[in-house]
Amino acid sequence: MCGIIGYIGNKQAQPILLSCLKRVEYRGYDSCGIAVSSGSIKVYKDVVRVETLAKVMPQLGGTAGIGHTRWATCGEPSQVNAHPHCDCAGNIAVVHNGVINNFQSLRQQLISEGHTFISETDTEVIPHLIEKYYNGNLEKAVEAALRVVEGSYAIVVVMVGEPKLVAARKDSPLIIGIGDRESFIASDVPAILNYTDRVIYLEDGDIGVVTRDNIEIAREGTAVEREEHKILWGVEEAQKGGYEHFMLKEIHEQPKVIRDTLVEYTQMAEPVVDLERMRDEGIESMLILACGTSYHAALVGKYIVEELVGIPVRVEIASEFSYYGQTLARTLAIVITQSGETADTLKAMKRLKEVGCRVVAITNVVGSSASRVADQTIYTRAGPEISVASTKSFTAQLMVLYWLAMGYSKADARRLASMLLGLRQLPSKVQRVLDNGDIILQCARYLAKYENVFFIGRGINFPVALEGALKLKEISYIHAEGYAAGELKHGPFALLGENTPVIAIVAQDNTYEAMLTNIKEVKARKSPLMALAEEGDEAISELADFVITVPRVDAIFSPVVNAVVLQLLAYYTAKERGCPVDFPRNLAKSVTVE
Ligand code: F6R
Repeated sequence: MCGIIGYIGNKQAQPILLSCLKRVEYRGYDSCGIAVSSGSIKVYKDVVRVETLAKVMPQLGGTAGIGHTRWATCGEPSQVNAHPHCDCAGNIAVVHNGVINNFQSLRQQLISEGHTFISETDTEVIPHLIEKYYNGNLEKAVEAALRVVEGSYAIVVVMVGEPKLVAARKDSPLIIGIGDRESFIASDVPAILNYTDRVIYLEDGDIGVVTRDNIEIAREGTAVEREEHKILWGVEEAQKGGYEHFMLKEIHEQPKVIRDTLVEYTQMAEPVVDLERMRDEGIESMLILACGTSYHAALVGKYIVEELVGIPVRVEIASEFSYYGQTLARTLAIVITQSGETADTLKAMKRLKEVGCRVVAITNVVGSSASRVADQTIYTRAGPEISVASTKSFTAQLMVLYWLAMGYSKADARRLASMLLGLRQLPSKVQRVLDNGDIILQCARYLAKYENVFFIGRGINFPVALEGALKLKEISYIHAEGYAAGELKHGPFALLGENTPVIAIVAQDNTYEAMLTNIKEVKARKSPLMALAEEGDEAISELADFVITVPRVDAIFSPVVNAVVLQLLAYYTAKERGCPVDFPRNLAKSVTVE
């Protein structure tokens, strides 16, 4: 939700903190701030983006400090609510990502003990608690403070007179970067890649004490060893590489993502998930849980697995999972999460584990919380996804689901061979969609003037309609709804008319004829109609006002090419409307609150 950073070394902390903060800004950008320690704690924070903060802030000399970029949960975005937060004396500064559930009662208690609070945030109790428990040893005070805190946190603490940073995590990600006579703490790897590729992933319950030359990690007062990892992707991959926005870059990376995933999985000696063994163990069905775009990938996965493997698949929104009567006997649970940090998904995972389900996580982030909770993790090979709107990770998730299902398919060898060929050709088909950007741009210019849009699809492309609508609404702020094409007549028809365009995904499969009928119904209600149709589809140009031609692929892979078209359509529409594509309002890349 929020991005946090810490630096201690032999260089001035301020420019380093600001440059690292820019790279975690995708996690939240309501406000930002830094605190630097040298004899005293100097804090500067405001309701601005990091770039502006860097321009307007004074020099805060010092070689140790912390920084934060906020996605507001507790208290509106304001200067006083921005992090870092301090204790009464202003000797301790803290940055925090997460939510302290019992902050109201802690705050009342601290006030009754003479502490004064200035912000509305939950975070502010932490420096006050540390102040209360401080007895000459900062890490001990942090440990004592966290013992009374309920909720989730990744924190970094700096204190006058203590030449160290103290970091701790529970249910929010935190890494330590090892540099040359300098150390870093960050919510995410891209933050520090400019400085080091050597990282340690903290685990829940860890408290790290970091100086410029030394890193010590302990749990409940006992020292623990944590493995050092070398990050294999470079800083270029976490930068825009000549594209105007991360989103456009990431859309264009998709042919490579498909290729990389295929290379990875075709070389694997073991099956992605040993469904055969699970069948022997009595697994009869699959449950897939996810949120947002990952949920849409899960819905496509249901069609893929049911068609190829022939077992029933249930797909649930992770945040709704707690409310269902759960019949989980003989069920394999799969969670899909790009970040591996989505609170709703993690909560559902923990629930699944409690009832004894085997849980497989599909995630893009090595060492993420999801990978720690799961029995098995399958990594998507999308590379870092910075833009808040997910694009390439959706495609990578689909690739894993294709591969997983093909490994156990009941389809005959000929069908499987043709699917394999189809998969191998997919990068070039997606490339053709990308090369066909002009027509998509024209459609986007047309779409940009409307305020309401429907996306419709059937079968395996119904979830793609949902995804197209999500992409458009989140980055262009146009109200968009994805619908199963057959459902329009059960209510939404009342909204159709010349001010409500409809975007129809027309696949060459058993849904084709029914889609044509739905399109005619839409046209009869005078809605402007855009169709995504396969090359060679003559019938569609008679009916649609705009046709975006997509390359011909096996129908089971049509979600991939269609999703890429809709990503570009959303991108160009948002750009046309002057929206901040990579940082849509009120959103964040990692949603670490329920
Ligand atoms: C939309 C988007 C979100 C995420 C959702 C789940 O473009 O990115 O809907 O898909 O917040 O995130 P992960 O996959 O990280 O669990």
